[in-house]
Amino acid sequence: MYDWLNALPKAELHLHLEGSLEPELLFALAERNRIALPWNDVEALRAAYAFNNLQEFLDLYYRGADVLRSEQDFYDLTWAYLLKCKAQNVVHVEPFFDPQTHTDRGIPFEVVMRGIKQALVDGEKKLGISHGLILAFLRHLPQEQAFQTLEQAMPFRDAFIGVGLDSSEQGFPPRLFERVFAKARSEGLHAVAHAGEEGPPEYIWEALDLLKIVRIDHGVRASEDERLMQRIIDEQIPLTVCPLSNTKLCVFEHMGQHNILDMLERGVKVTVNSDDPAYFGGYVTENFMALHEGLGMSEEQAKRLAQNSLDARLV
Ligand code: HPA
Ligand code: ZN
Repeated sequence: MYDWLNALPKAELHLHLEGSLEPELLFALAERNRIALPWNDVEALRAAYAFNNLQEFLDLYYRGADVLRSEQDFYDLTWAYLLKCKAQNVVHVEPFFDPQTHTDRGIPFEVVMRGIKQALVDGEKKLGISHGLILAFLRHLPQEQAFQTLEQAMPFRDAFIGVGLDSSEQGFPPRLFERVFAKARSEGLHAVAHAGEEGPPEYIWEALDLLKIVRIDHGVRASEDERLMQRIIDEQIPLTVCPLSNTKLCVFEHMGQHNILDMLERGVKVTVNSDDPAYFGGYVTENFMALHEGLGMSEEQAKRLAQNSLDARLV
């Protein structure tokens, strides 16, 4: 089954580039940049990948991202991810990057953007993988800083296709970012947002009605609100679901409880994605495989999920 799932043509629509930083590359970049790490080796770092919730993961994720310093580092990070995509027949990617994670530590915006974009352009030319890059705002920081980030990004307007919203969800509702999303949309950018991962269905309503998002990242808590379910089915609003992320971060206790296949059968446009594969135990094929093993996903269901990902592309 693994090889069959691996060979299915797929798009990945929910992937944080910083979350694809494998421990081996993290150690190599720390050495290149002469940064001391609190872990003795790769195994010790991997052993720290045990999380009870989103925040525990984010604390380690931001810490890991600190080894990314130069344009070459961002290139290497993105290129390593694209090689994984090639090996798993992921033919199109719409990855997120978090500029504020880097600009807040003094890395110039253009260093981040140039390294990532060059790798994506090379991926198109050398690997045949098409892309659309999404700039994500950190929701635990004020909207004013998101505005500054958008301003820094505008000289590179053609390098990305949309804006997203990520980081700590609880206590940081979408409505806090209504104005900056309006500004981004006025520039012709697509809007997406993490909503309903840990946060309540109300956050999904806000993301749809106030941020005017065209795709929901995670969204698994939509199933708690029947009126919301009807809306996302009627309007065929895609959900970028990340099964291994959801079990690693205890959104569901185990894969057997995951609601993705129930949603699929009700007609929700759900897709399968890896979120932060270096931290959660696998890339897209591993996420499909986990659905097969934990939920009995059939080949026919896998085909529909893969087709949904191709249909839900923004570009
Ligand atoms: N949720 C919110 N923010 C994130 C995630 C996530 O799953 N991964 C990286 N940043
Ligand atoms: Zn995410």
